[in-house]
Amino acid sequence: MSTPARTSYDAPAPDTELAEGDDVGRGPRVRVRVCPDGPLLVSGADSVVTDDGTEVPTTRRTVAVCRCGRTSRAPWCDGTHKLLPPGSLPGPGSRPAA
Ligand code: FES
Repeated sequence: MSTPARTSYDAPAPDTELAEGDDVGRGPRVRVRVCPDGPLLVSGADSVVTDDGTEVPTTRRTVAVCRCGRTSRAPWCDGTHKLLPPGSLPGPGSRPAA
C-alpha cells in the first residue's frame, strides 16, 4: 500500500514542526499589494479572515481589503479612505512607533 501523494495544498497542523525542504507555502499564489494611503489589494485568495475570525469568501480574483477602518462594507474598501489626510495609514514595511 502506498502513501497518497502530497499535494501542494497540504499544510501541516499548527503544532507540526516544519522540516527543511518542506513545500508548505507553495499552494495557489496569493498576492497582496499595499496601496499607499489605501486598501490592501489581495489577488488569488478564496476568502479573507477578519479580525474576529469571520471568514468572508471573495467574489472576485482581486479584492480591496480596507485597512483604514472607516469603510461601511467591511472587510472591503468602499473608498472612504480617500477622505483621510495623506499619510494617515502606515506605509509598506513601516513599523509601529516605539
Ligand atoms: S482603505 Fe478604503 S475604505 Fe478603508
